[in-house]
Amino acid sequence: MPVDPSAKPDSDQQLIDFKNSSHSSSKFHPTTLPITHNSIKVSIKATLPEEPDVVPLIVACAKKEFGDYQCNNAMSLWSKTKGKGTNFKGPQPIGQAIMQNLPTSDMIESCSIAGPGFVNVKLSKQWMAKRIQKMLKDGIDTWAPKLSVKRAIVDFSSPNIAKEMHVGHLRSTIIGDTLARMLEYCKVEVLRRNHVGDWGTQFGMLIEFLFEKFPSGEVNDQAIGDLEVFYKASKQRFDSDSDFKERAQQAVVSLQGGEEKYRKAWAQICEISRKGYEKVYQRLGVHLEEKGESFYNPYIPGTLDLLREKGLIEESEGAQVIFIEGKKIPLIVVKRDGGFNYASTDLAAMWYRLNVEKAEWIIYVTDVGQREHFEMFFTAAKRAGWLPIDESKYPKTSHVGFGLVLGDDGKRFRTRSTEVVKLVDLLDEAKTRCKAAIKEQEEARIKRGIVVDWTDEERDRTAEEVGYGAVKYADLKNNRLTNYTFNFDQMLNDKGNTAVYLLYAHARICSIIRKSGKHIEDLKKEGELILEKDEERKLGLHLLQFAEVVEEACTNLLPNVLCEYLYDLSEKFTGFYSECQVVGSAEETSRLLLCEATAVVMRKCFHLLGITPVYKI
Ligand code: ARG
Repeated sequence: MPVDPSAKPDSDQQLIDFKNSSHSSSKFHPTTLPITHNSIKVSIKATLPEEPDVVPLIVACAKKEFGDYQCNNAMSLWSKTKGKGTNFKGPQPIGQAIMQNLPTSDMIESCSIAGPGFVNVKLSKQWMAKRIQKMLKDGIDTWAPKLSVKRAIVDFSSPNIAKEMHVGHLRSTIIGDTLARMLEYCKVEVLRRNHVGDWGTQFGMLIEFLFEKFPSGEVNDQAIGDLEVFYKASKQRFDSDSDFKERAQQAVVSLQGGEEKYRKAWAQICEISRKGYEKVYQRLGVHLEEKGESFYNPYIPGTLDLLREKGLIEESEGAQVIFIEGKKIPLIVVKRDGGFNYASTDLAAMWYRLNVEKAEWIIYVTDVGQREHFEMFFTAAKRAGWLPIDESKYPKTSHVGFGLVLGDDGKRFRTRSTEVVKLVDLLDEAKTRCKAAIKEQEEARIKRGIVVDWTDEERDRTAEEVGYGAVKYADLKNNRLTNYTFNFDQMLNDKGNTAVYLLYAHARICSIIRKSGKHIEDLKKEGELILEKDEERKLGLHLLQFAEVVEEACTNLLPNVLCEYLYDLSEKFTGFYSECQVVGSAEETSRLLLCEATAVVMRKCFHLLGITPVYKI
């Protein structure tokens, strides 16, 4: 039995009044950002106890020779406290005091003041090395940032039944999965929701066509074949035959009225679609739980009653709408024919997610074209008091919009026949191309007299991991709001910022460790990591910044931030490796540990980006 949103709250179904709930006071507080955050916070408090709520402003030092981090609070603290009877005579002395008040710890090696009170902090190499070594012992999960949100919903992928998934859905699936993975890593409970379009007027047409083709009711997926072709044929019938059209419209009514025969046909069509999606998800390694639009149908009337009680819904030209300030067109929640639509479903889904699933953060991943829709129903929810007006408070909703996938011609990505490109074909092609590249490399190696011992299975698996990884990475590395050009040659290039390059870089590190002949597990227990040379220190610092970056990527819902970090990491590693001999050097143990730490962090990045790491090339 579905819960009725408009029913008065009882003990088992508490309706949350978010305006008064403790939810709204839980601010989003980054806790691990950046390494020096806590020390500087303590110091500012000691410097100006009369300003207890100052948020430390910390950035990476612009000039590396000055230090690693720079605290920029002095200027604003000066303008805040000037003339209020403090002893300070300007921003510089405030900076000086912040520096002096830094709690003694083995984290900081040295500090200095620059300009009008910028405090430069240089971390201690010993401290950095210890921290990295501890991570190697205790595992990378101990570096996960802590977010103050406990349960989130990521609504992603969400294709529409009977229409094949295309590259647009690829973006939603890839971006959504990464966001979910990042939040999960931060120990947020994530409900991965596939909000499939499994309801709506197109079903009348599909069902009627199904009845026509299979009068006996004997349907199976093979008989229907390609659902998309089936969809097109039925659409053609719908557009060209007015009798059919009328029957199709009647079929919608029968379906919505819950007539058995229609329900069954609908369920069959959905099931065939679902099987098709599942294949794609399996190949991409993406896990989703379907709660399609139809799931929320029973909740729509109650949800609208709640909004009506708040006086939000008005009559306009025969439809029922919610007017939103600043928008010319209102949000239609009941169509003129009395039917519900995308917006009514989304409102009911939001009610359900907030009240039944108790989500604190709901994240919707769709193309930017839908931004207006989300803005409007988020505003409606705020006006209803379901969401706090202050967006830094919980519960909150975020629309994660993304741009188009373009072809080389700069237009929307299509194949020659101008059909949308099918996802499965793309993945197939990526794999085929990778396999060819692997074979080519093998042949080159054999010519040089190198023994190649790959099994067919290994070759196949690697081609898949690299190929799918390349498709994902090419998407994720761009700021999601921009359009990006889909180009196999580019994404499968083994040089530059590509997954292929990064996966190779990782495999190379693994091979350095393997070739040393040392047992890395033993080294972790007995060896000591020392960051002596400049290049070692740079790499070490970058490793330590992993948590900050994940946190930023989560907070701003930007996977490209993590991609940039990963690419930088491989660059820093290259810098280190070209300056510092590893195997056979006096520092071998320490440097192998640094290699291992790099590999561990890289693997975590791959994992968060949904890419399977390769250990051997
Ligand atoms: N099915 C929609 C589409 O393909 C995406 C649904 C997104 N989620 C939502 N709650 N509106 O455009």
